[in-house]
Formats: sequence, C-alpha cells, structure tokens
Amino acid sequence: MNIVLGITGGIAAYKAPDLVRRLRERGGDVQIVMTASAEEFVTSTALQAVSGRPIRSNLWDKEAEAAMSHIELARWADIVLIAPATAEIMARIVSGGAPDLLTTICLATEAPIALAPAMNRVMWSNPATQANRRVLESRGTHILGPAVGSQACGETGAGRMLDPDTIAAAVFDIGTIQGEGLLDNRKVVITAGPTREAIDPVRYITNRSSGKMGYAIARAAAAQGADVVLISGPVDLPDPPGVEVRNVTTAQEMHDATHDCVKEADIFVAAAAVADYRPKDLKEQKIKKNDESMTLDLVRCPDILASVAALDAGPFTVGFAAETEKVDEYARSKLENKALDMIIANRVGNDCGFDRDDNAVNVLWSEGEKRYPQAQKSKLARDLVELIAERYYAARGTDTQPRLSVISTTD
Ligand code: C5P
Repeated sequence: MNIVLGITGGIAAYKAPDLVRRLRERGGDVQIVMTASAEEFVTSTALQAVSGRPIRSNLWDKEAEAAMSHIELARWADIVLIAPATAEIMARIVSGGAPDLLTTICLATEAPIALAPAMNRVMWSNPATQANRRVLESRGTHILGPAVGSQACGETGAGRMLDPDTIAAAVFDIGTIQGEGLLDNRKVVITAGPTREAIDPVRYITNRSSGKMGYAIARAAAAQGADVVLISGPVDLPDPPGVEVRNVTTAQEMHDATHDCVKEADIFVAAAAVADYRPKDLKEQKIKKNDESMTLDLVRCPDILASVAALDAGPFTVGFAAETEKVDEYARSKLENKALDMIIANRVGNDCGFDRDDNAVNVLWSEGEKRYPQAQKSKLARDLVELIAERYYAARGTDTQPRLSVISTTD
C-alpha cells in the first residue's frame, strides 16, 4: 500500500517515526510530507532514516517536484494519512485551501484520506473543530480517534493521538475492503515474479521481472474482498497484507503450486515471467571454464497459463503478454492459442515494463479491448482488477456483482 503520511505540528509528531515503522512492518510504502511546523517537533533526518524515502515538505522544491510532482504524489497514494492532525490542518482541508504541499495533495488525491487528530482537549471540543470534524466525515474522510487520556499540556481529556499501532491497523482496514468488494467470496490465484532455473549449484537462468505488477494485482484483488493466493518467484517485495503467499523458485514448482490450488479458484491471473526453458541436466558440481565456448542443452518448462486455461471448468483465466514489438498482434494470437479469457499486453524492453513502478497496458479479450495509459502499477492494478471482475461476471453470465468498494468509489 502506498501511503502518503502527512505530519503536522503537534507534540504527538514525536511518535511519527514509530508510526512509520508500524506502517512499513505491515507492508506499507511510506512517503512522508511534513508541514513547516511539524519540523519543530521531529527531525526530517530521523523520519528519512525510518521511511527510507526523502522527506517532502516544500511545494516549491524544484528538484523534488521534478522527481515526483505533487500531482504524481497525489496519484501515487493508495491512502493519505495525516498523523498527527492538528486543528489547523483540519480547518485548512475543510476550507479547500492549498497553501502548502500537504493540503495540495489532499485536494489533488482521489485516494481515501484518514486523519488522526491530536490536540489539547479544549481545542478538540471547540465547536469550530467539531464542525470541521463533521464536515470532513460527511465528505468521507476517516477520523481516527482521538484517544482520551493525559495530555502533553498536563490536562486530561479527549485529544491524544491514537497509538501508532492502532493507527497503522486502521489504515490497512480502510485500504482493505470489508464486506462490499467486487470480488467478495471469490478465490483468486495469481502468479508473480521471475523463476530461476538452475544450471549448476551456483548459477541459474532468470529474467528481469520484479514481481511488482503481480503483487499490486494481489493487493488490489484482496482489497476487493477476494481470497487471494499469490504464488511468487524470488522477489524483493514484502508479502501483501491479507494475502496467502506461496514462495517458489522454479517454473516446475510454480506449476505444481498453481495446480495445487487453482481448481477451486474463480479467477487465475498469470503475471509471472516464467522461464520458457530450463537446463536439461542440473550439473551437480560447478561447471569449469575449460573451453572457449560451451553449449547448454535446454528443455521447455511447463506452460502454467496454458495448462490452467485447458482445465475443464477451470477459472476465468487472465494472461500477460510482455512483448518488445508487435505487442497487440502477438498478444491477440496468445489469447487465441492459449484459449484465455483475457490478456494484458505491455511493451517491455529498454525503458518500460520490467522493474519499474509504472506501466501502460492494453487489455484484450475476444469481443473487445481497453487501453490503460502509463500509470503507477498500484493504480493500474486497481483498474485491472475492476475490469477483470467485470469481464468475469459477464463471462459467467451474472450481473450480480456487488457495488463498488471504498477504494473504487474514490478512484
Ligand atoms: O507465451 P508467453 O510466455 O509469452 O506467455 C506469457 C504468459 O504466459 C504470462 O501470463 C505468463 O505468466 C504465462 N506463462 C506461464 N508459464 C510459462 C510461460 C508463460 O504461465 N511457462
């Protein structure tokens, strides 16, 4: 989950490093945006160290804006969390002003916004603050807390920031649909990442797949209420929350793990970059470089996607086609040859596709197609899951899909 964490100028800002850690432990990618007054309470050095990303604070920082503009940041976010949220930031968001980076992001984002208020108890109970709270809630903003207890100012009452773990849990609850998801009660199996085919005990054949697209689809499907099994090759990504992850290494292992659980699945999405060939024999000892050239005998790996598509009464089956040329043409022939329900085609190579945070794709099925322009993989995944759900219900001849979810309605 991509989280923009806004930190405003309250004493509870000293808890922000702990909050960042809790969000990251749950698999969140946290981009901090501080207001000028927050810097009075907590240092950007500490926050940068725990978040692993440069801190953003200035709307007019040309270098930072060139890397990721405030609009891109607003689009990147799966959720905007402001903790601590002062009475001042609540008032500014209500008024719709955008005098700084954080308020600009709040205005420009389509993601859900959550605030964890923290302020003196009298400020919290002030009719102005309470009126702002009501307006925010009526607009769908999530207000987390505040808690009741002793305050830094020496008073006791409502106004303490909720503890970081409770806030982190609430953030993931907001991002994960409860109840009314498009894929409630549906089982989705997804493959992701590369495979590794051993040559000898120290070498293997693999590819540049990072697994980011498959992981993003797993998160998006889980957020739509699906029961998700993610069969992952070796990647450097945290397990998506609420998803059952099965780690595999080779194409054969991925094939076996897939067939272990795909029979009960409603939808199968093959996002993995599975090796097409593996070395015929695994050498038991490290191969020595004795000759000027050498030849490796390779044999075909099982085609997992085609084998699932060929199952009797199998799941709605979605493949990917990563191509360096003639993308649509090759994708459509794959759709037909492998008897798929849908294929997601993208161009890969020099500057696109693999190991990036964004992608552009064209989705094809027998009666239609839909293009998705360059977008963050998390955003793209949410759109793709909506389309997959729509086509899945259409193919099954039912239009009884549930209403759009928290995330979809704000997307
Ligand atoms: O035929 P090609 O490898 O281009 O097809 C790509 C699609 O097939 C992807 O969805 C990929 O996950 C899947 N695939 C597979 N097993 C293989 C090769 C590809 O599931 N051995």
